[in-house]
Amino acid sequence: MSRLTTDHAPRPVWVIGNWKMNPGLTAAQQLAEQLANMTTSTPCEYCQLAVAPMHIHLTTVQARLAAVSAPVRLVAQDAAITRGTGAYTGDVSVDLLKDIGVSKVIVGHSERRTIHGETEVLIGQKLAAVIDADLDAIWCIGETLAEREAGQAAAIVEAQIMAHRDWLFTINPARLLIAYEPVWAIGTGRAASPDDAQDMHAIIRALLTSIRPALNQISLLYGGSVKADNARSFAQCPDIDGALVGGASLDANSFLQIAQAFHAA
Ligand code: PGA
Repeated sequence: MSRLTTDHAPRPVWVIGNWKMNPGLTAAQQLAEQLANMTTSTPCEYCQLAVAPMHIHLTTVQARLAAVSAPVRLVAQDAAITRGTGAYTGDVSVDLLKDIGVSKVIVGHSERRTIHGETEVLIGQKLAAVIDADLDAIWCIGETLAEREAGQAAAIVEAQIMAHRDWLFTINPARLLIAYEPVWAIGTGRAASPDDAQDMHAIIRALLTSIRPALNQISLLYGGSVKADNARSFAQCPDIDGALVGGASLDANSFLQIAQAFHAA
């Protein structure tokens, strides 16, 4: 199946591992080495790969991947809104992340929205910082279980996008990926059904296209309990252009099986 934009250009397919606050240093080095070795020996050219280790492990993971020129990009799980360097205790700017080889930054993950109280205003500032630094943003959106059960899922997701409507007019769409991650599916083992995920992706794509036709080319990833055994059913959906994978990305074999499912589709 080819995923084509309205201009008939293929949309990039991405499988991205979000390691969250996992694992410890030794295990992170081993995981990076396994990924490096496996991705250089098994081609996956129709699906691009990336991993997001903790900030403290970015350079270590990058070194392991670079040592064998592994086709795996480096992603940061978060970034500060302030650019450059300065007196910002605990922060890491997009410029500093770029310096060490990061190419994409996750913005607006539901764990940051919930645990750190990130608002749409802050998320907008982070999205702007990432794209202004010529990095790619992986912008996470999705509804809670209560919102879905109240029949509000599409309205919530649309509101999350519309909060950034003006910004969407200004950006290069090639710099943005959107991950639809229903909050109730994250880390629960209860993935959305492929039909529900496809329906939401179609709604998101239609909204983006109505805002600005060029936004049709944005790759839309599904996230939330993607595993090796359900990846194929998501990969077969025409509006699902990849996956943002949490738990299953901590095992090199299952992460690469997910990638192979999207490569094969
Ligand atoms: P999960 O996490 O695959 O463990 O559900 C996905 C995510 O939070 O990006």
